[in-house]
Amino acid sequence: MTDPADIVIMNANEVLTLGGASDAPKTDKQMNDLGIIQGGAVAIKDGRIIDIATNNEIHNRYVVDALEMIDADGGVVMPGFVDPHTHAVFGGSREKEFEQRLEGKSYLDILKEGGGILSTVRATRGLSVEELVAVSGTHVEKMLLHGTTTAEVKSGYGLNLDEELKILGAMGRLNEIHPLEIVPTFLGAHAVPKEFAGDKEGYVAKVLAMLPVVKDSGLARFCDVFCDDGAFSVEDSRRILTKARDVGLGVKLHACEFKDLGGAYLAAELGAVSVDHLDHVSEDGIRTLAMGDTVGVLLPGVPFFLMQENEAPARRMIEMGLPVALGTDFNPGSCPSVSMQIIVTLACLEMGLTPAQAICASTINAAHAVGLGRHVGSLETGKKADVIVLDIPSHKHLPYQFGVNHVDVVVKAGRTVVENKRAVWK
Ligand code: NIG
Ligand code: FE
Repeated sequence: MTDPADIVIMNANEVLTLGGASDAPKTDKQMNDLGIIQGGAVAIKDGRIIDIATNNEIHNRYVVDALEMIDADGGVVMPGFVDPHTHAVFGGSREKEFEQRLEGKSYLDILKEGGGILSTVRATRGLSVEELVAVSGTHVEKMLLHGTTTAEVKSGYGLNLDEELKILGAMGRLNEIHPLEIVPTFLGAHAVPKEFAGDKEGYVAKVLAMLPVVKDSGLARFCDVFCDDGAFSVEDSRRILTKARDVGLGVKLHACEFKDLGGAYLAAELGAVSVDHLDHVSEDGIRTLAMGDTVGVLLPGVPFFLMQENEAPARRMIEMGLPVALGTDFNPGSCPSVSMQIIVTLACLEMGLTPAQAICASTINAAHAVGLGRHVGSLETGKKADVIVLDIPSHKHLPYQFGVNHVDVVVKAGRTVVENKRAVWK
């Protein structure tokens, strides 16, 4: 007789375990191996996975005593998506800029004129922390309904100490009231605020001074910098991230979204946990990254939404041994979608990933990109029970039937939070 389980998920056509990569992300050919158990089932207890095997085995071991049974009904069972790059806590929206861009204005021109990120800064500063928690809570709820169980979220719409702490505080509050696990990142160097217009140097000094306070607040795990044309230089980024590392924050970097300034080399030099975007990275930059432990986080929703030609050379990266993850970059300007399912489709269509590579990149590799590879991102005994059930017969249908939400059930840390596509945690 085995221990009784709290939850048993039965009758899957495929269980995608993504096992064997908790210590390091999957690279190259490993990314095509989803560790599929045909006709599999999963048992959960005390928030963790306690067994994963065939339907018959799990049935014999657990079904009689299980408190809750979830019928996957011939669908796919897989780890909850990990979204390793979002800017999900913000005020307002930018549909007017969407129209301007359709008329031919570029994203960076809109930013230069005081719109873009700076317009979201104005809208975010105008909200109280309670209001910010309420609007961001609606985004977090959508993420969960679409199967995202862990998401990294960046600040960066405050751009002064109090406002940045307000945003990070809102993330802390969201972590208490929503089941989705937020990994908080300080992105004080997202743009130069209007108070420092023409004085980037002065603002970099401010960000450097914010770092120890942010660290002491306990509200952030990582520090990120937007290193690109129209934002911060490699040298600015080096100063900020070196100090971030010294005060004890993990390091991430936005690089090569619009131009290759050499951010990939800086990420490698600093041993960043991830370097994100990489749409314009050089072959040599990829080679340098592949020698270290940094994960390349690719965000295909951004060039799609900004109508840009350049895509991160994902296939080359994988061939060259760089571990690749996928994220939404959910934000009001360059990708207002929370759906990791759509990102999986775009990664296949626009970057040439196989469905299996894209699923690996949005689960276990994405978990490594936020430093949580040992805890989430795969279905393995002892890991956190973050499990989703999709109403598709095989993982190949995930990118193929695009634009609809396939997630029926979400279990977060052993608790059923979405059932029949509806939130049930409230
Ligand atoms: O990752 N590149 C900088 N930041 C975001 C966009 C934020 C915004 O437009 O509000 C990005 O694309
Ligand atoms: Fe971003």
